[in-house]
Amino acid sequence: SWGNVPAGPPDPILGVTEKFKADTSPKKINLGVGAYRDENGKPYVLPSVQKAEKLLYEAKGDKEYLPITGLAPFTKLAAELAYGKESIPLKEGRLAITQSISGTGALRIGTAFLARFYPGAKAIYLPSPTWGNHIPIAKDSGLEVKQYKYFDKDTVGLDFEGMKQDIESAPEGSIILLHACAHNPTGIDPTEAQWKELSDLFKKKKHFPFFDMAYQGFASGDILKDAFAVRYFVEQGHQLLLCQSFAKNLGLYGERVGAISFVCESPEEKSRVDSQLKIIIRPMYSNPPIHGARLVSAILGSPELYEEWLVEVKGMAERIISMRTKLYNKLVELNTPGEWGHIKSQIGMFSFTGLKPEQVDKLAEKAHIYLTRDGRISMAGLNSGNVEYFAESVSKAVKG
Ligand code: LMR
Repeated sequence: SWGNVPAGPPDPILGVTEKFKADTSPKKINLGVGAYRDENGKPYVLPSVQKAEKLLYEAKGDKEYLPITGLAPFTKLAAELAYGKESIPLKEGRLAITQSISGTGALRIGTAFLARFYPGAKAIYLPSPTWGNHIPIAKDSGLEVKQYKYFDKDTVGLDFEGMKQDIESAPEGSIILLHACAHNPTGIDPTEAQWKELSDLFKKKKHFPFFDMAYQGFASGDILKDAFAVRYFVEQGHQLLLCQSFAKNLGLYGERVGAISFVCESPEEKSRVDSQLKIIIRPMYSNPPIHGARLVSAILGSPELYEEWLVEVKGMAERIISMRTKLYNKLVELNTPGEWGHIKSQIGMFSFTGLKPEQVDKLAEKAHIYLTRDGRISMAGLNSGNVEYFAESVSKAVKG
């Protein structure tokens, strides 16, 4: 029997969806998990994805196993999207890349690789706060978790000085995780000038940059802008690691399609890294699922579908940005105590509202509105039909 098994807590993010589903009120709103919703609050399958589905159906492909590192055309296109076609490590054949079970799987492989092969301390520095799942992923892989300052509660902005100090005082050669764009949960990113300073600091301290890029294109609506930090670090010669997800920018959440890549020193080093990635993946899940990778390849590999997708991803980003303005205006109109400018300046799927855990609980209880207890809201869950109700409920919660 399992008398020795203690009951565990629900997941801080996915547990919110469970509570939302159990609520029968027609007014209910789920602002927990970061999953895009359209103007009617419905999941959105991108038209470019629907076209790709049709192409795949017509191609009548087999369902054979993929190689351990995934579908080769997919990983090539994923790398080009992140690093650029003209990227030097790509051209020189020194980028090791493998398909992954979305962003989480990429992080799991990346941390497992570092736990096995990183010379020196097996610790990873995460921003405080960070995506809740980063912590157990790193720990399950055998890394020790440390944190660096990131969020300034007083300004509801980036604590850049604190961040630099902590990175500076980390032992030389530390592994440091960076959110490439649309920091989750705060929605606050360094500016381009600040990324440049960080690159210098990483060089000086010989730190290892571990990039998590779950939102390329989704943050600003611009693929290049969102890839700035990664591409700049590569240009500056950092041998970084990059996790990519296609959950948000292509709306392929349940297809679980992502990639992890390592910028290596030489093609020979790349092939050694490749060989070890296979050894890590094979006992974990053998090889990745095929369908999502085929969809992404069909879109990124076709000039027409690619153009169409760029418009769609921009459309999603813009709808979210327009909700930020609406929410801000309404909160101000209702004389909600506090400064709400951050709602407009934050980037990407999320906004860090500053709501306290008790206020979050009250919103669920009284207004059927669900969010994570850290006060993060998924902006994508708002639409013209519910943004006013949400603002009124927040205003009430804040006024007490
Ligand atoms: C989120 O932060 O809500 C998303 O990244 C989805 C997830 O898996 O947690």
